[in-house]
Amino acid sequence: MIASENLGHKGIGIELSAEFCDIARSRLHTKKKIKIIQGDNNIELDKLEENSCGLCFTSPPYWDILNMKRSADKKQNINYSSSDNDIGNMKNYDEFITALKTVFIKVKRVLAINSYCIINVMDIRKGNKFYSLHSDLITAMQEIGFVYDDIIIWDRQSDYNNMRPLGYPSKFRINKVHEYILIFIKEK
Ligand SMILES: C[S@@+](CC[C@H](N)C(=O)[O-])C[C@H]1O[C@@H](n2cnc3c(N)ncnc32)[C@H](O)[C@@H]1O
Repeated sequence: MIASENLGHKGIGIELSAEFCDIARSRLHTKKKIKIIQGDNNIELDKLEENSCGLCFTSPPYWDILNMKRSADKKQNINYSSSDNDIGNMKNYDEFITALKTVFIKVKRVLAINSYCIINVMDIRKGNKFYSLHSDLITAMQEIGFVYDDIIIWDRQSDYNNMRPLGYPSKFRINKVHEYILIFIKEK
């Protein structure tokens, strides 16, 4: 939203958490062209006009991983909410992917033809299981009809400090210090 504001564009930010909406509003200068809507994407996106937005940029919840104990860096949990509408609180991974897909179908409706949908995600490990969220989302987005245009690997080594040897001494397990920025286009 700050980037929209800096460029003089209109912007609509939708966020479930009232606290995060307040933080977003406090960071904006003029608030004239930018609207921060506190609400559920599943409801708010339906209120927007079809083909009316030039870009979607989002960082969806990382499933319910923020509710888990952080074994990699031992930092404190920062779960966003306990709301049932919070997609990050879904217990089942497949249901979580389906919930994201439902939101992106709504995003596709409001995007103008040839505009981009850009998604920041990381993969997830829960105990012994590794979930390739970025590739599952690429598949889901293509099923919806988005064209998969590109991928950026975002090196976040400097943010992910306090790492320790995961799995030691029984397993070799690499700490993840990167996220993905997935780039899609709505061509039709
Ligand atoms: C990884 S955070 C991203 C936070 C921030 N919007 C950003 O892009 O930096 C995921 C956000 O999704 C929000 N969220 C989860 N379910 C939602 C829903 N159904 N509608 C709107 N926002 C939701 C959470 O409150 C959380 O703030």
